[in-house]
Amino acid sequence: MRAVVTRPGAGRAWVAEIPEPTFANTDDVVVEMLRVGVCGTDRHVMARARGDGSGLPPDTDYLVLGHEAVGRVINVGTHVQHLKAGDIVVPTVRRGCGECPACAVGQADLCFTGRIRERGIVGLHGFLAERIVDKEENLIRIPDELAPVAPLVESLCTPEKALRRIGNARAHLPAKAGPLYGVQRALVIGAGPIALLAVMALRLRDIPTWALARSPTDSPAVRLIQQAGATYVPLQEVDLEQPQAQLGGFDAIIEATGAAELCVAMFGALGPNGVLDLVGGAAERNEVPIQASVLGAMVGRNLTVLGSVNANKDDWQTAVRDLSEMRRAFPGTVEAILTHTFDMDDVDVAFERVPGQIKAVINIAGA
Ligand code: BGC
Repeated sequence: MRAVVTRPGAGRAWVAEIPEPTFANTDDVVVEMLRVGVCGTDRHVMARARGDGSGLPPDTDYLVLGHEAVGRVINVGTHVQHLKAGDIVVPTVRRGCGECPACAVGQADLCFTGRIRERGIVGLHGFLAERIVDKEENLIRIPDELAPVAPLVESLCTPEKALRRIGNARAHLPAKAGPLYGVQRALVIGAGPIALLAVMALRLRDIPTWALARSPTDSPAVRLIQQAGATYVPLQEVDLEQPQAQLGGFDAIIEATGAAELCVAMFGALGPNGVLDLVGGAAERNEVPIQASVLGAMVGRNLTVLGSVNANKDDWQTAVRDLSEMRRAFPGTVEAILTHTFDMDDVDVAFERVPGQIKAVINIAGA
């Protein structure tokens, strides 16, 4: 069958003819892939050489890319309980280490050892293939009508986890009324798919939301922010030394750019008891200065800064529910996040960043 593959460090992806996946266990499910989203992580996987070859699945010299996917079940093992041929499913990404207490209870997103594998990212083939096999427990059934936009379920589970963790971090506060324990004002940094979905998830909960990014005010992403009822402020107009002077303080901030200087600047945008969740994953080695008084303010205002990666099964279910709700609440916006559509044969251009692009998807045979 055909698949889009890479080798970590190769800096590119290509279409290859690879063996069919093995359908061997009684809880296995065979899924015909419909479409797969392209994500910044894919570019990192292609670009980053792992000296020990540990990024590759055992006994192969390539990695099938793709982790934001949707497909249709075409065959199920004898012990599969809830899925049947024809069901539309999204596969989860991370597989546990098999050693730690978090992975033992299906919370590989909280793995203690770091020896996780992630399909299409590290150690396991991804979903940019005509067919995949996975265990029933790793597949989430979704409503059929969500299939065209369903690669976004994976993108959305990141902000869903962030919101859950922000709620947990605020659960001790006396202001318990309303969503996320009394969040009155929220801020999202960025205008990529995760940031846009974070904005929409906050607006679904009726939380007054602001978004800060470098995008021009007439860009498609900014229009989506505004259509979801949030306020957009161009980053260039904000004094990052004292963001609250202009924007006021925020009870919750989701930082989705990974730009270290923005992460640090956002400490200063938190109101009393505020929570900042970093989901962008800064990878550069540059240093950013931080004033001691910023740390003092963290103490003086009971601030929480946390980081979150990946998501648990509940977050995936919430993402499926919210994506459906978003399509009803903000018509046309979810579809508009998918700005570019490619076929497998477009592999040379599908991973390029082009102006105006929010999310690209690759259609696979059968879509
Ligand atoms: C994916 C997550 C994954 C993370 C780290 C992200 O792009 O959405 O599922 O855990 O990368 O590899």
